[in-house]
Amino acid sequence: MPIRKKLFLQALSPAPPPRLGPAGRPPIRMVANENPLGPSPRAVAAVQAALAELHRYPDAGGVALKHALAARVQLAPESVMLGNGSDELIMLICHAMLREGDEAVLAHGSFISYVRRIQAQGAIARQIPLRDMTHDLPAMAAAITPNTRLVFVCNPNNPTGTTVGEAELRTFLDQVPDEVLVVVDEAYIEFVTRPDFPDLPPLIRAGRDNLLLLRTFAKIHGLAGLRLGYAFVPELIAYLERARPVFNVNSLAQIAGLAALDDAEHLARSLAHAAHSRTVLSEGLRAVGLTVIPGETNFVAVAVADDQGLAAALA
Ligand SMILES: Cc1ncc(COP(=O)(O)O)c(C=O)c1O
Repeated sequence: MPIRKKLFLQALSPAPPPRLGPAGRPPIRMVANENPLGPSPRAVAAVQAALAELHRYPDAGGVALKHALAARVQLAPESVMLGNGSDELIMLICHAMLREGDEAVLAHGSFISYVRRIQAQGAIARQIPLRDMTHDLPAMAAAITPNTRLVFVCNPNNPTGTTVGEAELRTFLDQVPDEVLVVVDEAYIEFVTRPDFPDLPPLIRAGRDNLLLLRTFAKIHGLAGLRLGYAFVPELIAYLERARPVFNVNSLAQIAGLAALDDAEHLARSLAHAAHSRTVLSEGLRAVGLTVIPGETNFVAVAVADDQGLAAALA
């Protein structure tokens, strides 16, 4: 008899085969939006200083890092959840919140992990088309049904780079039933300049308990390889933590994250570099007749008429 598999997991497309670049190294994946300036030098120094302690297990509670992260948004350290990249947190959230047949609402044209993790639970991903390359929040609110357990809002959105503002998001949050968890993924928040970008920690401080903010050290801090993400989620955290592997965040990631948070110089350089590169690239793309989508991230998205054709030509 064949080994019994979960059909909905089997139905997901397999991971792409590993590829090596010209020098026998993994190719640079432009879609990954890494920091081209490299990791925070302070993080590198902290990791080097910690290497002799690798025989120790990491701090399963991530106490020092949680204190530092919480202090930045005036939340309690107990409100912070750490993940092996925010991707792991997306997986853990879906695992904890979704049963087979449940629904999750998200934008069609957003970070690919959401759909895969929703479907890996046997749940249904209700994907709502973008409007003007941005989340269509009224349409997303209207798509919520009694079966909806989870909503993802990626702000700024990967891959379009577009944002939703504070007023729009607050109106949306007020329309979401209390029993539905809204995950706002702010992986690129540090690059945003829009003055009315939503400031969501005060909502959490005010007691909103169906809101989870997701962030990462993989982008502006340049620590993608160490895998470190975090969430602010005061109420549900005790429940979500039950789904977490005890030592999911390794010791070097914790140490590097702590050091990177204080590396104001690296942050400033990374921001300036991203802003400059975005301007230069956007001007160049416009000069050859392409339509650049105005975004607020460390990447630039271009609207093309025949996306499938272009993807096939580039493959
Ligand atoms: C919007 C968004 N969320 C989450 C992630 C995952 O980040 P991490 O490297 O922390 O898993 C990415 C990575 O590209 C992203 O673009």
